[in-house]
Amino acid sequence: MTPSLTVSPSGGLRGEITVPGDKSISHRSIMLGSLAEGTTRVHGFLEGEDNLSTLKAFQAMGVDITRQADGVLEIRGRGLHGLREPGDVLDCGNSGTTMRLMTGLLAAQRFFSVLTGDQYLRRRPMKRVVEPLAKMGARIWGRDGGERAPLAINGAPLKGLEFRSKIASAQVKSALLLAGLYAEGETTVYEPHLSRDHSERMLAFFGAEVRSFAGGVTIAPQPRLQGREVRVPGDISSAAFFLVAALITPGSELLVRNVGINPTRSGIIDILRRMGGDLQLLDERTLSGEPVADVLVRGSSLRGIEIGGDLVPRAIDEFPVISVAAALAEGTTTIRDAQELRVKETDRIAAMVNELGSLGARVAALEDGMRIEGVAGLQGGRVRSHGDHRIAMSMAVAALRAAAPVTIEDTACTATSFPNFWELLEQVKS
Ligand code: S3P
Repeated sequence: MTPSLTVSPSGGLRGEITVPGDKSISHRSIMLGSLAEGTTRVHGFLEGEDNLSTLKAFQAMGVDITRQADGVLEIRGRGLHGLREPGDVLDCGNSGTTMRLMTGLLAAQRFFSVLTGDQYLRRRPMKRVVEPLAKMGARIWGRDGGERAPLAINGAPLKGLEFRSKIASAQVKSALLLAGLYAEGETTVYEPHLSRDHSERMLAFFGAEVRSFAGGVTIAPQPRLQGREVRVPGDISSAAFFLVAALITPGSELLVRNVGINPTRSGIIDILRRMGGDLQLLDERTLSGEPVADVLVRGSSLRGIEIGGDLVPRAIDEFPVISVAAALAEGTTTIRDAQELRVKETDRIAAMVNELGSLGARVAALEDGMRIEGVAGLQGGRVRSHGDHRIAMSMAVAALRAAAPVTIEDTACTATSFPNFWELLEQVKS
C-alpha cells in the first residue's frame, strides 16, 4: 500500500490558488493533436498519471510528443491515418477515459492493439463501448465476453451508427465519435441526459463537422483535422475539493483562479449554491472554445437538498466531495439517479458510506445514491482511499471539520488527477 497522510482540523482556508488543468480536456488534446495535421501546442496540460497513460500510448503509436522548456506540450500530429501499430500492450493505468476513448479510436485503425490497465480498471465495465462499436463493425475481444480488459482490438472498416445510449456517459459518446471520424456514413449518439461535451467542442475546434442537438450529437466522417493551440482550463472537478473545503470551514475566503465552467460540468456550482453556499463567478471568459471563470468562495452554513435527474451527469465526479458537504449541512440530502457511481474507479457509494460513516457521519447507501443526515462535526480516525483519488481527497476535506486528526491510507492515487493536492491544501489551510 502507498503512504498514509494525516490531515488536522482547520480554522478556515484563505488565499488564492490555481488548480491543475482539466483531466478530460487534457486527454482529448493528446488524442486529437495526434490525429491532426500539423503541430498542436497544449498550454496547461495536466501531468497527472491518467493523462500520462494517454500520452505514452500515443508515443507508442509513433507520435512525437515533447514538453517544451516553457511547459507547453508539443504534439506533431500524424494525420488521421498516421498512427503506427504499437509493438506492445498499451497500459491505460487507472484511466477509464484512456481505455474507453481509445477503444473507439483503435477499432478503426488498420492494425492490432491490446489495452490493459491496473487492478481497478480491469474490473470496470467495457461492454458499454464494445457493444455499440461491434455494431459499427469493430472486432474487439475481452474477458467476460468483452466486458473486462484486457481488450484486444483488430482494426476494421466501420459503418456509421445511430445509437441510443441508456446511460449519460461522455466516455461512451466520445468512443463512438472517435470511431465515427473513420466510419462510412454518419454516426449519431443519443443520450438520456447531456454528458460532458468536451469531445464535441474540441472536435469542432480542430475543424471536424459535428452537430449537437437536443438529446444527441452527430459526426460525419472526416477527411482531416487541423492542429491547434489548445489552452486547458483548470479542472472544476479538482477545484471542487477546495470549494467544499472553504464552504465547510467557517471564516474561509478563497479565490480559485481559471476554473473551467462548461455547463455540462458545472453542476457542482449549482448544487453548492442550492445548499446555501456563497460562491461567486468572476471574470467569465472563453479559452479554446471552453468557458472559464475565477471562483470566489466563502465559508457558509449549508443545508440539505435533493439531487437527481439532469444534475447528476453535470456533477458525476463530484459526489464523493458533495457527500462531505452534505454530511456537515443542516438537514437531509438525498442523491438519486447516480447508480453510475457504483462503477467508477471504485464503488463510490459504498466507499463514502464506509469512510464518512467511520468518522461519525450519518450516511446510508441507496441503490442509486445516498441519503445523508447532516451532523455538527466529525470525529478523527483512520480511513481508506480504496485506491481512488477522489475518495482520498474527499476524506482530506472531511478531516478539516473533524474534532481530531484523520489519517488517510493509500494516498498515492491522488496523482492520477491532482498531483499537487496536498501541497495546495497545506498552503491555504490555517
Ligand atoms: C470522463 C467522463 C466521465 C467521468 C470521467 C471522465 C471523460 O465518465 O466520470 O472522470 O473524460 O469523458 P462517464 O462518461 O463514464 O460518466
